[in-house]
Amino acid sequence: MTTILVTGGTGYIGSHTAAALIQSGYEVVILDNLYNSNEHVLERIQTITGVLPKFYQCDILDKAGLKKIFDENKIDAVIHFAGYKAVGESCEIPLTYYENNISGSINLYEAMNDAGVKTLVFSSSATVYGAPKSVPIREDFPTHTTNPYGSTKLMNEMILADVCASDPEWSVLLLRYFNPIGAHQSGLLGEVPNGIPNNLVPYIARVANGTLEFLRVWGNDYPTVDGTGVRDYIHVCDLADGHIAAVKYALEHKGADYINLGTGNGYSVLQVLHAYEKACGKELPYKIMERRPGDIATCYADTEKAFKLLGWKAKYNIDDMCRDSWNFTVKNPDGIV
Ligand code: NAD
Ligand code: UFG
Repeated sequence: MTTILVTGGTGYIGSHTAAALIQSGYEVVILDNLYNSNEHVLERIQTITGVLPKFYQCDILDKAGLKKIFDENKIDAVIHFAGYKAVGESCEIPLTYYENNISGSINLYEAMNDAGVKTLVFSSSATVYGAPKSVPIREDFPTHTTNPYGSTKLMNEMILADVCASDPEWSVLLLRYFNPIGAHQSGLLGEVPNGIPNNLVPYIARVANGTLEFLRVWGNDYPTVDGTGVRDYIHVCDLADGHIAAVKYALEHKGADYINLGTGNGYSVLQVLHAYEKACGKELPYKIMERRPGDIATCYADTEKAFKLLGWKAKYNIDDMCRDSWNFTVKNPDGIV
């Protein structure tokens, strides 16, 4: 059986991917320090798949802990989700972000190298495209970052490209996610943001359940369909399936490559809000505010390369994403506990 180490595997995207991997016949070992998730996620993966994945509470900054995992398991490939991800916070505590996302990742790549495990799928982000000159965004567009979080993603991409250039046995896929939203159809897995959410759909979910009063729409004077920002929202289960296709490809090829994971469709803030209203069956209040600093007007993926290389394309639409987000929100008023 092929064994995949999933770092950050109790987190939002990692947990959906771990469940999908198990359901596709892979053996899964999860590593997470539980900084932004908890162990109940493991029981929920078991409820969905019938398998309780092997779990190590381990920090990627802990070199000895990483070595132990590779010593105790015959790992074939790694999917690396572990990291900090809040853009705003990364501007306040950049060194903490660089230490966790860069030093921690280098520890992981060293441990892999030492164990002879040279196949990796890395969680990058569409944030590496900065403000793109045009849409849809292709993988060969120039990269540019505007905050420390984005820089940690771009630096990891550069580090891994160098590793692949230095050693032809390495195989790395750098997956640039667009805007992951939604939740597992079972209502057992989903996103549980800490405090007041920054991201659109988690914020709308809290307006829908009455925890927050209204949505603040950051600007309605962009050159878009209704003036509000347009993004490529992708169902987290589609993203999970994209990782399965990616790990299969990485195990069969060598070298580094970059792949967008998006749907190729853009939706405006108000279009998402209206889709969510349909999902929860009520009108959701909103107020138009000033633009949020750092936001761009429009961002969506060219998905051709993902389809050509991986044979993968997203299958869920914005209504499915909002329905599953609302289902998770209703079923888990206190998060995953
Ligand atoms: P998440 O916070 O839900 O999951 C990340 C997990 O990593 C958490 O469970 C956390 O406890 C763990 N972790 C953090 N630092 C660690 C460390 N030092 N050692 C071990 N575990 C550690 O985030 P997510 O939304 O699932 O994102 C997963 C990955 O995808 C991240 O690398 C993120 O930057 C990237 N990404 C996310 C988005 C998004 O919008 N959610 C977009 C693009 C890229
Ligand atoms: N928005 C609002 N009100 C809110 C939150 C968001 O109007 O309360 C708007 C934003 O202005 C933007 C859109 O909704 O137009 C999406 O905003 P998000 O914060 O949900 O997502 P971003 O596209 O800004 O950023 C996300 C991740 C980044 C990642 C990027 C690209 O947060 O980490 O997608 O993948 F880099």
